[in-house]
Amino acid sequence: MMYRLVFSMLLAAGMLAAGDARREIGRQAFESTCSRCHGTDGKLAEYQYIKTLHGLGKRLTKAEIRERLRAVRLSSGQYLCRGTVFSREQLDALVKYVARL
Ligand code: HEC
Repeated sequence: MMYRLVFSMLLAAGMLAAGDARREIGRQAFESTCSRCHGTDGKLAEYQYIKTLHGLGKRLTKAEIRERLRAVRLSSGQYLCRGTVFSREQLDALVKYVARL
């Protein structure tokens, strides 16, 4: 009984840590490539034609956000998006990150 409780606590902690790691990958991808136009918090709306990304996840599904990024799949299996080459994992994390801005 006790073992099971400890086990599920460890499992939950592990899942949290994995979520944090993914969020960190998404944040780094965003800051390296997107923040210069959208601001580090995605809310920058100073430049013409750029709307805030804040609350985007409430308007669009993740699939729609991914579509709007127009990432190009390279023969290496990586993705070219806004001038940066991302791994599949980075792109997934980026979409998730943007959906939560
Ligand atoms: C050179 C400036 C620039 C960079 C860098 C840039 N964007 Fe944008 N972004 C824009 C502009 C301008 C628009 C509005 C026109 C359009 O949709 O293409 C836009 C639109 C978007 C939209 C659609 C918003 C909506 O309301 O439909 C998303 C999502 C987005 N950007 C995400 C990103 C992400 C994620 C990155 C980094 C990988 C990024 N952008 C990098 C300029 C930029």
